[in-house]
Amino acid sequence: MTGLPPEGYAPAESPLTEWYERAGVRADPRRILDDLDQGRVLFPDRLVPYLAHPLVAGLTPALRRQVVARHAYQYFAFTAHFEMRVVNRATELIASGRTDVSCLGSLRLDAYKIYCDEAYHALYSFDVIQQLEAGTGIPALPYAFEPVLSDLDVIAAKCMPCAGTLPYLLQVVVFETLVTSLLAELPNDPDLVALVRDTVRDHARDEGRHHAYFTRFFRELWAGLDLQARDQVATALPQLIVRSLRPDYHGVAEVLRAAGLAEPQVRDVLHDTYPSDRVRQTGREQAAHSVRLFRSAGVLDLPRAHDAFAQEGLI
Ligand SMILES: [Fe+2]
Ligand SMILES: [Fe+2]
Repeated sequence: MTGLPPEGYAPAESPLTEWYERAGVRADPRRILDDLDQGRVLFPDRLVPYLAHPLVAGLTPALRRQVVARHAYQYFAFTAHFEMRVVNRATELIASGRTDVSCLGSLRLDAYKIYCDEAYHALYSFDVIQQLEAGTGIPALPYAFEPVLSDLDVIAAKCMPCAGTLPYLLQVVVFETLVTSLLAELPNDPDLVALVRDTVRDHARDEGRHHAYFTRFFRELWAGLDLQARDQVATALPQLIVRSLRPDYHGVAEVLRAAGLAEPQVRDVLHDTYPSDRVRQTGREQAAHSVRLFRSAGVLDLPRAHDAFAQEGLI
C-alpha cells in the first residue's frame, strides 16, 4: 500500500527511471535500533484500536507494552509476507513476461526493479522485528499469513474461474494502489523509535513510485481485456479491496490471548473494537483513492461494477 498518491505518469516516462539512484535497496542505509531507552514507543497507541478497550486498558503497563510490541511485529510480519507471497508472485509474472496479457518492455523492466524493492522491504521488515525483539526482550508470536492469502485466492477463484494469471495481477494492483494512512502517519510520529519511523519512511518512498507504476499498469491491463473479463474483474476488485483493508482479527486475537485474556474476553474486545458498520466505514474511507482510480479507468461504467462496488460499501 502506498503513502504517496501521485496520479500516474505520462505514457513515455517511468516512475522508476532514477531507480538506480533513488530506490531504497540501492541508496538507504540499514536502520538500527538505538533509542529504545529514550522513552520512545514501537507503535502509536492511537493506531492500536483495541488498546483503549477496558479489558486491555486495565492490563499492567508491562502487558500493554507487550501488546503494542506484538502489534508492531504483526505490522512488519504482514508486510514481509505480503511483499514476498502476493506482490512478488505477480511482479515476477510481469517481469518474466509470463502474464496472459502482453506488457510493454518498459513495464517488464520496471517490474524487475519492483521485484528487488519488495524483496528488500520484506528483508528489512523481518530485520526490524528481530531488532525490536532483541531490544525489548518481548518475543514475536508465530505469524499466520495463510488466512490472508487463501481469502485473496478464493475471491479470485470465485469471480474469475478461468482467468489464468489475471487474479494475481489484480491482487497486486489493488494492494499497491491502496493509500492507507499508516505509511503516511508513522514516518512523522516523533514518539516512535527511529527504527520504525525511518523504515516506514523508506518504504513509503518506494511505494509512491510503485503506486504510479501499478496505476499505469492497470490502465493498460483494463484496455486489453474483453467484455467478459472486464465483467469478472469488476466483480473481483471491490472484494479484493475490502479483504485487503480488513483488520487482522486472527492476529489481534493471538496478541490478546498471549496477554492473558480468556476466550470470551478476546471475543468481546474484537466485537466491541470492530463493529461491522465501523469496519465498512473505515474501508470506504481508506479505499476512496483506489475507487477514484478504478472509476477514472472506466471500471465503474459497467453496470455490474457499480452494483459490486456498492454491495461492498465502497460507493
Ligand atoms: Fe513494498
Ligand atoms: Fe510496492
